[in-house]
Amino acid sequence: MVRELSGHEIDALQYELLVKDIIAAAERLPPFPDIAWKIVSLVKSMAPVKEIEALIAYDQAIAAKILRMGNSVYYSRQYEVRSVREAILLLGNTRLLQVVVAACSTLYYGPGNSPEERELWEHSVYTALLSQIVARRMRREENLTLYTAALLHDIGNTILNLYAKIYLHSSLREIRGENDTVKAERRALGIDHQELGAIISRNWKFPPDIVAAIEHHHNPEKAGKYVEFVSLIYIADALALSFAGKDDKPGARIPDPESDPVFKRFNITRTMIDEFQNELKTGMSDVAKALASI
Ligand SMILES: [Fe+2]
Ligand SMILES: [Fe+2]
Repeated sequence: MVRELSGHEIDALQYELLVKDIIAAAERLPPFPDIAWKIVSLVKSMAPVKEIEALIAYDQAIAAKILRMGNSVYYSRQYEVRSVREAILLLGNTRLLQVVVAACSTLYYGPGNSPEERELWEHSVYTALLSQIVARRMRREENLTLYTAALLHDIGNTILNLYAKIYLHSSLREIRGENDTVKAERRALGIDHQELGAIISRNWKFPPDIVAAIEHHHNPEKAGKYVEFVSLIYIADALALSFAGKDDKPGARIPDPESDPVFKRFNITRTMIDEFQNELKTGMSDVAKALASI
């Protein structure tokens, strides 16, 4: 005789199928464009500008974004940036690489999609820029690896939000409420955005420090030998969330550097937090705006 499944067993089975489905969707994401790493290696080997220009010109979408970025960051100039070559020279190596990684990331999420995705993209851009501001102040290396990890730390949200909408008819924000983000997601969907992001970034063959940052940015103490690197992402993430407030919608609470163990480990004070905010809003507002609308 065939045993009938109990209601509880059917629920468990559906839950398991849902998690499998979410993971399969993450695994189906197209690979991260290798033009980004090709440009990085050309820049690092100090290749002539015409070689970098030729590589960028090969990808029209990226070329257009670099041109737009050149014009928006340097809008105060008297004339328009018309060629990719000119934009490369104007942006300089560091900014050029940041723009290329951002342009590639917009294949998966970006400013042109739903308001939620736009908000996530803005948050990602702020986290990426803050990672550089904080690293510089902490006398750590501000580099493209840190920037890339910060820009993509919440990549798992894109797929998880989609499934939350389809299966639970609610947004991730509603599911999380005031609760612990990671726990709330696991309870509702069986997997959280960190684990999903780690699957995506491993499939993209990202280096292990970036994967660790995506996998543990809410709990850097779990990142093993990458704890310091991931802690910088944690700090940039927390600051980006709290600086994101608008007049009608306050941002997250500013972390208390006295009680947050990660902030404490880096000896970050409230005055330093104010300085970070000031640097982001004044020194980097053009870049932030341009990247947010790339
Ligand atoms: Fe996150
Ligand atoms: Fe985040």
